Amino acid sequence: MERVKFNNEDKSVSPVGIGTYYDPSWIAVAKILKIRKSRKQKVDAIRTALGSGINFIDTAEMYQTEPLVREAIQGYNREDLFIATKVLPTHYSYEKVIKSFNRSAKNLGVKYIDLYQLHMQSSYSKIQEALRAMEYLMDQGKIRHIGISNFDLDHTKKASEFLKKHEISATQMNFNVAHRNIEKDIIPYCKENGISILAYFPLSHGKLVTSEGMGKEVIETITKNHGPKTIPQIVLNWFISKYDFVYPIPRASNPQHVRENSGAMGWRMNEDEIRMLEDAVSNVKAATWFGDHTT
Ligand SMILES: NC(=O)c1ccc[n+]([C@@H]2O[C@H](COP(=O)([O-])OP(=O)(O)OC[C@H]3O[C@@H](n4cnc5c(N)ncnc54)[C@H](OP(=O)(O)O)[C@@H]3O)[C@@H](O)[C@H]2O)c1
Repeated sequence: MERVKFNNEDKSVSPVGIGTYYDPSWIAVAKILKIRKSRKQKVDAIRTALGSGINFIDTAEMYQTEPLVREAIQGYNREDLFIATKVLPTHYSYEKVIKSFNRSAKNLGVKYIDLYQLHMQSSYSKIQEALRAMEYLMDQGKIRHIGISNFDLDHTKKASEFLKKHEISATQMNFNVAHRNIEKDIIPYCKENGISILAYFPLSHGKLVTSEGMGKEVIETITKNHGPKTIPQIVLNWFISKYDFVYPIPRASNPQHVRENSGAMGWRMNEDEIRMLEDAVSNVKAATWFGDHTT
């Protein structure tokens, strides 16, 4: 079970986490039709993650999956878990952020949240007010880290400036081996300023799970050097081999996928292997088949 420091601080986390965003229409339909099976599978997937050494869970008030996380973490020691959730931009006022925190904590069944993130960028004045509430929550010990998500570089810098007593610990961005534009600006800034990155769409929303177009060389070389590995494992390992401050948060609602993804931890690729994977992916003209989304 691999553990690394989060943001160079006390709490240790698995270098690979688990995301919990499912299409919200599924949640609405499931509620109406009382579909328990699908819900149970998602809870099982999160529990499988915990049983496979993943203790880093990402959710959001928007996803409506905080109650699933609450169900999944029953029986686990809270201190052994790292739970990240997010507040929506429509709630970026001082009072509303605190209300959202209280609602999320209740939905999750926890007293504190490890990483509380502003889900999307907004006007500077709204961000400033929301961050004031975040600092209050930090002072109260209700949140352990302040995070942002989907902030461009200017908004990231502004968010850091707005904070008076605490710092931005992490940002969450669309990032994977086929979609690397944040390596130009956000990554260098975060590295310089000690900000961790949660990589969402680490498997490009499920497109980066087959060897199609990537060539056999990648699998063969990695397997020769590290033992048998699958494409999802290699693609997730890329983050942690290349950066020690980036944490991929793949979503897998299929417990078998979760077990597979946990095999991305505990080993590292060398620089040549990293480059070989990047070249193989860019050779398939990634830009034409990997899109952008924000959820
Ligand atoms: N901050 C933001 O704005 C934002 C935006 C998007 C996402 N997120 C976060 O990031 C997380 C990940 O994003 P995502 O879920 O959209 O994309 P993703 O993790 O790149 O891909 C998820 C897809 O990959 C499949 N998958 C996972 N592991 C697999 C494996 N080993 N083999 C084959 N298929 C596999 C999943 O299938 P199954 O479900 O069938 O296992 C699912 O269809 C979200 O859950 C959420 O927590 C944040």
